[in-house]
Amino acid sequence: MTKKPDDLPVPVWRDELADEYAALAERLEPLVPCLEIPLHLPWIAAINQLKQQRGAVIMAHSYQSPEIFHGVADVTGDSLGLARAAAECDAGLIVVCGVHFMAESAKILAPDKTVLIPDLDAGCSLASSITVDDVRALRAKHPGVPVVSYANTSAAVKAESDAICTSANAVQVVEAMGAPKVIFLPDEFLGRHVASRTAVEIVLWHGHCEVHEKFTGQQARHAREQFGAKLVAHPECPPEVLAEADFVGSTTAMGKWLARERPARVAMITECSMADNLRSQFPQTEFIKPCNLCPHMQRVTLPNIYAALRDLKHAIEIPADTIAGARRALDRMLAVGRRETV
Ligand code: 13P
Ligand code: SF4
Repeated sequence: MTKKPDDLPVPVWRDELADEYAALAERLEPLVPCLEIPLHLPWIAAINQLKQQRGAVIMAHSYQSPEIFHGVADVTGDSLGLARAAAECDAGLIVVCGVHFMAESAKILAPDKTVLIPDLDAGCSLASSITVDDVRALRAKHPGVPVVSYANTSAAVKAESDAICTSANAVQVVEAMGAPKVIFLPDEFLGRHVASRTAVEIVLWHGHCEVHEKFTGQQARHAREQFGAKLVAHPECPPEVLAEADFVGSTTAMGKWLARERPARVAMITECSMADNLRSQFPQTEFIKPCNLCPHMQRVTLPNIYAALRDLKHAIEIPADTIAGARRALDRMLAVGRRETV
């Protein structure tokens, strides 16, 4: 269990928790070390009580730890799903358990609501690989070429872009620009994957996800040859990994593929918690999980979710003109629709 914020009293175990949270404990048993469950439950109970008192909604990305994903989240999903849910829900207070760009996306789509993130330093190697100045320099180098930015970018970079995409709709959004050439930011590997599926010429940036870039073709072959597993990979992985995969798709598309194919054994070549969170939905499938955890996602813990709700911190603030620019680029994506293509 991660360290609690210094001034936070630790909620204590009460025997009633065993009955109250019996179903949750059963769900968590295969997913977290069993000795941790009695440590998690008092925090989960305290958070759920405070959440009700505050009238808040907790949203958790699929890469969050099982005790957060199953224990306190009201809404779970991919980054776009969470942002949309933020705009649609009735609550005025939203806690985003995810990384900073995800909380920003929720704020962009729900600017009148208070959006909290439990740890302001929960970043993303892709989002931090590109700045507003970089985008302006690329535009100067490629005049008239539209810019499509992946959702894993800051609000400021989104505001400089013509359209946003996710890994689920990147090809569609690129083609909807109606241009022979598109600047694609910031993920080089996703950009290469898109380039392999469209006639549009793609100008790449050199950003990488520090979690997915670590996977190798050798690991993928090992999972298939030694364990007879089907391979499902996220398009942020290097091309040599994608070349081995039975299915390449976004966070949401992976879940849909599992529901459709029901493989006996699968290796999820993506963030480790994602496999844990899917595992309870597909008990017939054996998950071989190559364990790469996102260190930024791991910054969100039960104690700092509790602290966020108690102290109403850390609220996401974005200048109004940045919200307007980022919203325009996001709306361009939403107009294209969200048919899953990669
Ligand atoms: P999604 O947009 O599919 O939620 O993925 C975000 C992410 O950070 C992938 O590494
Ligand atoms: Fe960013 Fe990679 Fe972590 Fe996703 S898994 S938040 S892309 S660092």
